[in-house]
Amino acid sequence: MKMVMDMDTGIDDAIAIVLAAGSPEVELLAITSVAGNAPVDVCTRNCLLLNELLGGDAVVAAGSDRPLVKSLLTAQEVHGADGLGGHAGSLPAPATNAIDEPAFELLTRLPMEHPGEVTLVTTGPLTNVALALRADPDAVAAYARIIIMGGAFDAPGNTGTVAEFNIYVDPEAAALVLGSGLDITLVPLDATTGAVLTRSALTAHERARGLPLERPGRDVSAILHRAIDHYMDFQFDESGLDGGYMHDPLAVAAALVPGILETHDMRVDVVGNGSDRGRTVRAPVQAHAADQGRGVHVAFGHNDGAFIQLLEGRVLRPVFGPR
Ligand code: BDR
Ligand code: CA
Repeated sequence: MKMVMDMDTGIDDAIAIVLAAGSPEVELLAITSVAGNAPVDVCTRNCLLLNELLGGDAVVAAGSDRPLVKSLLTAQEVHGADGLGGHAGSLPAPATNAIDEPAFELLTRLPMEHPGEVTLVTTGPLTNVALALRADPDAVAAYARIIIMGGAFDAPGNTGTVAEFNIYVDPEAAALVLGSGLDITLVPLDATTGAVLTRSALTAHERARGLPLERPGRDVSAILHRAIDHYMDFQFDESGLDGGYMHDPLAVAAALVPGILETHDMRVDVVGNGSDRGRTVRAPVQAHAADQGRGVHVAFGHNDGAFIQLLEGRVLRPVFGPR
């Protein structure tokens, strides 16, 4: 499966890259960055660093530094100033560079080079995808599948009370993409808050490794360990959860394991402004009468046994288990 990932590379995005890179059936063609969890330069740096430390040969392209209309809101309290746990500038500099082409152009070029063959997984605000759609809707329609982590329906929001972060940051982009009529699978908080990596599952794998935590250098295990530790500490302080939500890895899992999500098809509207900014809502049927029967495949649950098995086999054991 050819895959392109578009992301605001914070901590769960990083785990999503590891999962894709560790999946033998995936050929990761490209990773594109977008401003979200951190400013776009930070996200691009993290994409480059992870791609090279994992031995990947995906091209990396830098994306939009701001949402279509709104000012950028980051989530550096969740992901750290550097997007990977924030350890006072101790991340190594990448040895590779982003290509010259802007992300939205790459996002239109690749599906035209491999029509019907590329799966696009997005785990950040939808700014780049919206720009790609504006530039060349036929190209975006040439993706085999588009899987988007974002939204909150019946689940409480994580940005304000009703919105999910990726949609809240760029609701205009989300409205454009989710209203495009393309074949989209949406993986909202309703599903992802049930996908938790517990601290005990993580430490069970880590015990044997003896990680050089203070100065991790170019050791992907140590970098990820510190990042995930920060992520879990934040979530514990905030909600008492002794673990971390695997929002973005679940979107990758949806590409890998047919049927892992429990989905309902519906049209989705996005609230752009006001106290409900970023809320995703089931659209009234009459608002989209011409499209009845089509819609976004929205996940309200998933097969957690299959997900954890994937995470154990392709992330935890290879990255954190005994060498
Ligand atoms: C989403 O927001 C980001 O902080 C995470 O990386 C994930 O993509 C969850 O709401
Ligand atoms: Ca993300």
